[in-house]
Amino acid sequence: MQDRITKAKEEIENLVVNNLEEIEAFRIKYLSKKGVIASLFADFKNVPNEEKKAVGQELNTLKTLALNKVNELKESFACSDIKKSGMDLSLPSAPLTVGSRHPLSKVRNEIVEIFTRLGFTVSEGPEIDDDWHNFSALNFPEEHPARDMQDTFFIENKPDIVLHTHTSNIQVHDMEEMELPIRCVTPGRVFRNEAISARAHCIFHQVEALYIDENVSFADLKQTLTYFAKEMFGKETEIRLRPSYFPFTEPSAEMDVSCSLCKGKGCNVCKGTGWLEILGCGMVDPNVMKLNKIDSEKYTGFALGMGIERIAMLKYGIKDLRLFFENDIRFLEQFSVNI
Ligand code: DAH
Repeated sequence: MQDRITKAKEEIENLVVNNLEEIEAFRIKYLSKKGVIASLFADFKNVPNEEKKAVGQELNTLKTLALNKVNELKESFACSDIKKSGMDLSLPSAPLTVGSRHPLSKVRNEIVEIFTRLGFTVSEGPEIDDDWHNFSALNFPEEHPARDMQDTFFIENKPDIVLHTHTSNIQVHDMEEMELPIRCVTPGRVFRNEAISARAHCIFHQVEALYIDENVSFADLKQTLTYFAKEMFGKETEIRLRPSYFPFTEPSAEMDVSCSLCKGKGCNVCKGTGWLEILGCGMVDPNVMKLNKIDSEKYTGFALGMGIERIAMLKYGIKDLRLFFENDIRFLEQFSVNI
């Protein structure tokens, strides 16, 4: 027994191998189930009792020696493979390129986030909808000239199915489905049959907001707009409201913000006026409440809607709206990843 252990020990210590196959052959010879070490352990029962302790220790040491040798040899071969391949492990790795968010996504997220801070929830809805949700329930009577404000893509006629021309149809779904009070924002992509130019596109993006509760007043609308404008364009931003018309709000207004480029003095972005038009808004028309089965004696509400492209153009000084849709990497990579 003792001789066999000594012999195996010497062999292991003096082992020289030339390749991975020889290491594997060595492992099988010594460490497999029928290998040298296993058979030594099998014969251990024949060792006289008084020698058992010492021999047992030697056997364990032998096994560890063999295991270490195999690992050592494997490692040294792995390293030499890398050396042979000429690979320089000290070189820095190729930099990872991280994509950037599309400017429209950034601006949409920013707008939505401002409203969620005020307690608004986010709603999504269909891009293809029926006439009722896109027009009639919003107080656009059939054949009414207000429908011409939005040049519509029709998918089917009578009954009419359209590509939604604004995200207001989602507000109608919300009025049908949500319990009062409602306080939601609806970001989305909308479609109008417009000629594509630097200022208009047949596909663009909107965020609208709707708040219906008891005692909602125009003052609440104005305060919400002021908060939004200051958060979006900076604390020094001022707003002004001009009377306007939308079928679904009464009274209706358009909101301008003071031009952040010239601080209201007048420049070519604000065309010398010091003000930039940002969004439409108003108090929800009682007719819309009735059409959507909401008690207009008890509840009032406000709504507002804005185009994301316009806000992004103002925020980043982009002069041509078509750039948002061209997917030119030189344009897109200027917008950092955050948000
Ligand atoms: N739906 C309008 C449009 O697309 C925008 C709008 C104006 C939405 C006023 C509103 C609002 O909710 O109150 O032109």
